[in-house]
Amino acid sequence: MAKTILITGASSGIGKATAKLFQENGWNVVATMRTPDKETELTGLDNVLVIRLDVTDPASIATAVGAGIEAFGRIDALVNNAGYGAFGPLEVATMEKIRRQFDTNVIGLLEVTKALLPHFRANRDGVIVNISSIGGRIAFPLGSLYHGTKYAVEGISEALSYEMAATGVKVKVVEPGAIATDFAGRSFDFTNDESMTEYQPVVQGVFTTFENILGEAAPASLVAEVIHTAVTDGTDQLRYAAGADAEQMLAARASQDDAAFMGGIRAQMGLD
Ligand SMILES: NC(=O)c1ccc[n+]([C@@H]2O[C@H](COP(=O)([O-])OP(=O)(O)OC[C@H]3O[C@@H](n4cnc5c(N)ncnc54)[C@H](OP(=O)(O)O)[C@@H]3O)[C@@H](O)[C@H]2O)c1
Repeated sequence: MAKTILITGASSGIGKATAKLFQENGWNVVATMRTPDKETELTGLDNVLVIRLDVTDPASIATAVGAGIEAFGRIDALVNNAGYGAFGPLEVATMEKIRRQFDTNVIGLLEVTKALLPHFRANRDGVIVNISSIGGRIAFPLGSLYHGTKYAVEGISEALSYEMAATGVKVKVVEPGAIATDFAGRSFDFTNDESMTEYQPVVQGVFTTFENILGEAAPASLVAEVIHTAVTDGTDQLRYAAGADAEQMLAARASQDDAAFMGGIRAQMGLD
């Protein structure tokens, strides 16, 4: 029997590429998104259910999970992909911006996961893939909010992997580097206040570095392949880097102490 995967944020980028890859590999796909009415590509594919799910709307989570189980009999894997990046000096960020970032990237992920846990536990089977980032293990300046959420995803996932062991459910974390999606477009929530002059050199340094990094971005299909491996390899491996830049950055982080690594970031961004 074909297996079924539920993906959040399947309207674009990594989520959409993952939906397409699993569908091509014979899976049933519950492709969830905030505005399914706008979707044209996934709706035409066999064995794909396109349905509304906003990770900040609990009723939509319950409805989408129920509809997925109803349509395909069971759900075997979950990809918590929905997310975006709030950046900028913390002093400038409104509490609304702070709450929205954590509500989406952290609370939303927890709520979708909780919605599927009873099903996975009853089946004694299931794989949860949480999309973190190299930014879940390395922090850049002006990313206190985004990195706060992705470091949270890492801790949540690592802790959860222990408690899931007794249920037969596996937890995986995928850590992409720079990926060519709309992350730098509509998913980049940047705020600044130029009158706060102390922060402007770091704003400049970050923008220059991000432009360079994103110029080398890998395609979303690469992350989809890594997610496919994480879901299907049957191992207890927790973390999967996605992209050559991710592997290189994570290796550099692991081999250096805080002072050396952070000194390198400061030098790269011209902050010394
Ligand atoms: N691109 C990168 O370089 C990169 C690197 C590391 C990690 N990531 C992570 O990869 C994930 C996907 O991002 P992407 O790069 O594929 O960017 P993207 O193309 O902009 O996709 C972001 C997705 O998240 C969805 N989303 C945002 N808020 C949501 C909510 N409240 N409920 C449901 N869906 C919501 C968006 O839906 P709408 O269409 O409704 O806006 C969209 O489908 C994110 O978690 C991001 O942090 C990306």
